[in-house]
Amino acid sequence: MTKCRILVLNGPNLGHIGKRQPEIYGSRGMDDLGLMVGESLGEAAGRIELSFFQANGEGQLIDRLEQAWRDKLDGVAFNAGAFTHTSLALADCLAWIGIPCVEVHLSNIFARTDQPLRQQSLMGRSAIGVVAGFGMMSYVLAVSALWQHWLTKNS
Ligand code: DQA
Repeated sequence: MTKCRILVLNGPNLGHIGKRQPEIYGSRGMDDLGLMVGESLGEAAGRIELSFFQANGEGQLIDRLEQAWRDKLDGVAFNAGAFTHTSLALADCLAWIGIPCVEVHLSNIFARTDQPLRQQSLMGRSAIGVVAGFGMMSYVLAVSALWQHWLTKNS
């Protein structure tokens, strides 16, 4: 049976989720994601193939997205970290590769009124949607949205 292949892509300072400022970003780590997707999506989880990549550099993230395009992946759950707010280059890449992307944030960036720059996203315009504010559950919700999107297109 064909699987829905989703890349979970993390940008700078997201290599230690669960340890970095847990009061803002939560205490669950990326290692928990497979289990959480299984718990949340049940049988459907068996039809989803997750791959993971994290990099601190913008170029490495673009290279990985281009690889995803060559591999014809079905979706990207992308937390670009601080690049969300600054990187036209990553937004440009998402726009041309055309892989359905869900922008992910652990924190609710729109509620971070003390730092207005964090409320803006350059990525959002190239994404099919945004999930923010649910800690690691944001990734589960993004995977679920990409799965539903894939099902709609492949049934
Ligand atoms: C983040 C929010 C960004 O503003 C920040 O730079 C991050 C993490 C989040 O997941 O809440 O690195 O993307």
